[in-house]
Amino acid sequence: MDWTDETDELTAAEAAHLERHLDRLTSADADGDERAVEAALRPRTLDEVVGQVRVRDQLGLVLEAARRRGRAPDHVLLSGPPGLGKTTLAMIIAGEMTSPLRLTSGPAITHAGDLAAILSGLNEGDVLFVDEIHRMSRPAEEMLYMAMEDFRVDVVIGKGPGATAIPLEIPPFTLVGATTRAGLLPGPLRDRFGFTAHLEFYEPHEVDLIVHRSAGLLGVELTDEGSGEIAGRSRGTPRIANRLLRRVRDFAQVRADGVVTREVARAALELYEVDESGLDRLDRGVLDALCRRFGGGPVGISTLAVAVGEERETVEEVAEPFLVRNGLLARTPRGRIATAAGWHHLGLTPPAAPPGGDSTLFDTI
Ligand SMILES: Nc1ncnc2c1ncn2[C@@H]1O[C@H](COP(=O)(O)OP(=O)(O)O)[C@@H](O)[C@H]1O
Ligand SMILES: [Mg+2]
Repeated sequence: MDWTDETDELTAAEAAHLERHLDRLTSADADGDERAVEAALRPRTLDEVVGQVRVRDQLGLVLEAARRRGRAPDHVLLSGPPGLGKTTLAMIIAGEMTSPLRLTSGPAITHAGDLAAILSGLNEGDVLFVDEIHRMSRPAEEMLYMAMEDFRVDVVIGKGPGATAIPLEIPPFTLVGATTRAGLLPGPLRDRFGFTAHLEFYEPHEVDLIVHRSAGLLGVELTDEGSGEIAGRSRGTPRIANRLLRRVRDFAQVRADGVVTREVARAALELYEVDESGLDRLDRGVLDALCRRFGGGPVGISTLAVAVGEERETVEEVAEPFLVRNGLLARTPRGRIATAAGWHHLGLTPPAAPPGGDSTLFDTI
């Protein structure tokens, strides 16, 4: 099997997928302009990080111990959905160790040679951040195992029988890997991280604190109710909270007196079609098609995608996980079904008989 090819294919598909969603208000991925604003809103120290208490405590210990020993900390793996603070934590690790941060990403490392070049340029104590580490090519991954464990790599020069491996010493560094798909990381790579942190979605009161903090930094005046409206629709995701805050601020400045009150936030979010549970137009479209057109299912994901005029992956990777997490939609072996909560969310009454006349269906969810 040719691993490089597979990686490239994934990259192209995911790039196209990202492109289609740059304009989605509730997408958890960041686009170009957004990154600049995000930089201003990022917590810079562990103390400034809101929520993720366990991760913060554990990471604080790892860093403090390394500082006392005067050594580079163990390699750290950060996993979790987009927008929860992986990049932020990587920057904080470097900041707290007062070490330079070198940034790269899995898709940028297509050959082992790319990685060798990065590794050979490191100085002792540097923090190397590899975002989307699950998308690195297989040969690079193998080189990385060795670098992580022995601070050494073999650079292969030439091809075939004449090829020679030149060993290269690497100064002790700390690798910080981030991934949205920890399950895709091969075991040997995962095992070489001394510390793994899994980031969870934030509690509403934590998102509320983040909205207040960001408003302070952006100079936006907002009431507690205004903040609560935004936090409640942010899907437990700081990146979405910050994005909704900026859109609501625009609305407040243009259509109101600049202050984000409950009424202003509600009106703004209604205009942007983000509902009280954080569902956007696509999420509601999927749920609506499922209930109204397919009687609540079960229906296959492809059929559902056609019904809402979207790509299958979009429905599967973007809308569905959120609907499932909120208990509005369930996956069954026979297809997707709307839960009672799903029907209620649309203001509809769930059918008395379980969908499809299958009396066991509701028992299985
Ligand atoms: N714990 C947190 N406290 C405050 N703001 C946060 C926190 N986590 C993330 N953010 C904000 O969310 C944005 C996205 O975080 P980021 O680290 O880029 O997420 P990821 O890399 O996981 O996709 C950042 O700009 C930051 O302002
Ligand atoms: Mg990131």
